[in-house]
Amino acid sequence: MKRCVLAILGYVVIFAATLPAIDNGLARTPPMGWNSWNKFACDVSEDAVRGVAAAMVKNGMREAGYQYIVIDDCWQISRDAEGNIQADPKHFPSGIKALADYVHSLGMKFGLYSDAGTKTCGGRPGSRGYEFQDARTYARWGVDYLKYDWCSTDGQTTQESYTLMRDALQLAGRPIVFSLCEWGNSKPWTWAPAVGHLWRTTTDIKDVWEGKMTGNGAGVVTIADMQVDLADFAGPGHWNDPDMLEVGNGGMSNTEYRSHFSLWCIMAAPLIAGNDIAAMKPEIHDILTNKEVIAIDQDALGKQGKRIRHENNQDVFVKPLAGGGVAVLLLNRGAAEQTISFTWEQLGLGAGKGFNGRDLWEHKDLGKLAKQFSSPVASHGVVMITLKP
Ligand code: GLA
Repeated sequence: MKRCVLAILGYVVIFAATLPAIDNGLARTPPMGWNSWNKFACDVSEDAVRGVAAAMVKNGMREAGYQYIVIDDCWQISRDAEGNIQADPKHFPSGIKALADYVHSLGMKFGLYSDAGTKTCGGRPGSRGYEFQDARTYARWGVDYLKYDWCSTDGQTTQESYTLMRDALQLAGRPIVFSLCEWGNSKPWTWAPAVGHLWRTTTDIKDVWEGKMTGNGAGVVTIADMQVDLADFAGPGHWNDPDMLEVGNGGMSNTEYRSHFSLWCIMAAPLIAGNDIAAMKPEIHDILTNKEVIAIDQDALGKQGKRIRHENNQDVFVKPLAGGGVAVLLLNRGAAEQTISFTWEQLGLGAGKGFNGRDLWEHKDLGKLAKQFSSPVASHGVVMITLKP
């Protein structure tokens, strides 16, 4: 009897020790895709999701790299007698598996949302106590991405709860990108690289330029300010997540949306669009599919850009690129146009080198630049360039 118990214990210890780390080949560059929350919130339905996925194929977004179609909160409604999570039959009459199959048939990947607590933030059933069962269900349905929220978690600790779901996903045997969403409360950048592929660093983004909202949420530049000091924690397979994109949701100007998108790209943030893709204006499409700017986000070196200047309403970010060279973002936070300048020395590039410049929004070569760059920048606007040897 004693020998038997020891053998089982030994097996459990060996098994636990051989669970692979989260660095499992997924999300080598920041995940790109679409999530239902910012536009549809709890009005999400299979028709809306199908419409968005089909539109992304037709309008070139899939081609531009957007891959994961993620249903956020409110797809789930109850559990059956065996504890299996049930989709809301009114909004998802064909079921989640059918929707995942459809998304896969378009050559894209499929994601879902759950919560580490007893209830999701929208009051739907959470995964607490059902982690392994839910992970098996997701794997059976063909889920490729899980966003895991942190509402109704009284008495739980973040690291334990997220590690439990990480292990459940690994045991379920399907490669699933694991997106942590505890809003930066427990400094997840210090522990989450071993647990998930991305972790929210802040409160919820709102479709406004600046400021903290009463209660929950903050504007784009305020969110960016909260994430700038975390650059060293990001890298291939593990990313800081300043929340999903608001580009195209109507609360900001196109200039501000271009700045929002550029900030996310220079910070190597996940690019999860959150607008109604099936009904967007051409100007919004052009922002979301600017391949030169996306390439900075998706650069193989996987470095999050650093802010090297933050004064007089001028921000300057610099991001090292694979193969040498850098991307530079000039942001004008002020109410009037101003000229922003920098020298190679200020970027830490060494004074004596010449670089070939390229403007990534104008799609224009800037020729050989000797030792500095200077450009007018519109109010709330950006200029984004690369400097290559
Ligand atoms: C939290 C998350 C959001 C969204 C909602 C859903 O607020 O931070 O991104 O998932 O819950 O209820």
